Amino acid sequence: MVDYRIAPSILSADFARLGEEVEKVIDAGADLIHFDVMDNHYVPNLTFGPMVCAALKPYSRVPIDVHLMVEPVDDLIVAFADAGADIITFHPEASRHIDRSLNLIRDKGCKAGLVLNPATPVNVLENVLDLLDMVLVMSVNPGFGGQSFIPNTLIKLRRVRNLLDEYERCSHRWIALEVDGGVKPENIAEIAAAGADTFVAGSAIFGKPDYEAVISRMRRELVQD
Ligand code: DX5
Ligand code: ZN
Repeated sequence: MVDYRIAPSILSADFARLGEEVEKVIDAGADLIHFDVMDNHYVPNLTFGPMVCAALKPYSRVPIDVHLMVEPVDDLIVAFADAGADIITFHPEASRHIDRSLNLIRDKGCKAGLVLNPATPVNVLENVLDLLDMVLVMSVNPGFGGQSFIPNTLIKLRRVRNLLDEYERCSHRWIALEVDGGVKPENIAEIAAAGADTFVAGSAIFGKPDYEAVISRMRRELVQD
């Protein structure tokens, strides 16, 4: 039985009332808070930094899942770990030394993950599986909320799932498989069937008046899976 987790992305929340939004979405059933950090360098958009993460930490009774879309990554890994991040993921293209950056996250006491863009090959994971707690598969190109799910992602998710299952058989270590971009109640069952267990959703939740209704609908779809 898979323990599915819903991770609302506050990228689509009301930025003027972020604390309230975080509390509201947790009350609605969020398992993680997904925190999209964009630097207008690695991606063509700019969001929030570690000070906002630290300010939101007291409002979050669930783990904060920091998705770094920044380059370089190492200084911000330290800053976000100090700001209360629980999980930190980054894009391998943005680090000169992937192994070192993953170790830095773990040394700071956080869970560590790599993010695969739609065009990033799966084999970047192979030599660092022992350092990973999560793999995040992007189902859109990073930088913006509200984009459509790229269907080819389902094939990639299956390949990553197989790799992680094989690794778990040998190591007895479980690694989470998260998906990010264009996830909605209408496609979540199909995405779960391809192997994802953690689902980021921004516009599908924050774009609607009743967060609880969307999250419950997502869970119902996952149960039927
Ligand atoms: C995109 C971000 C995603 C995005 C998800 O770069 O990493 O987290 O905000 O938003 P939706 O669910 O609207 O595609
Ligand atoms: Zn994200």
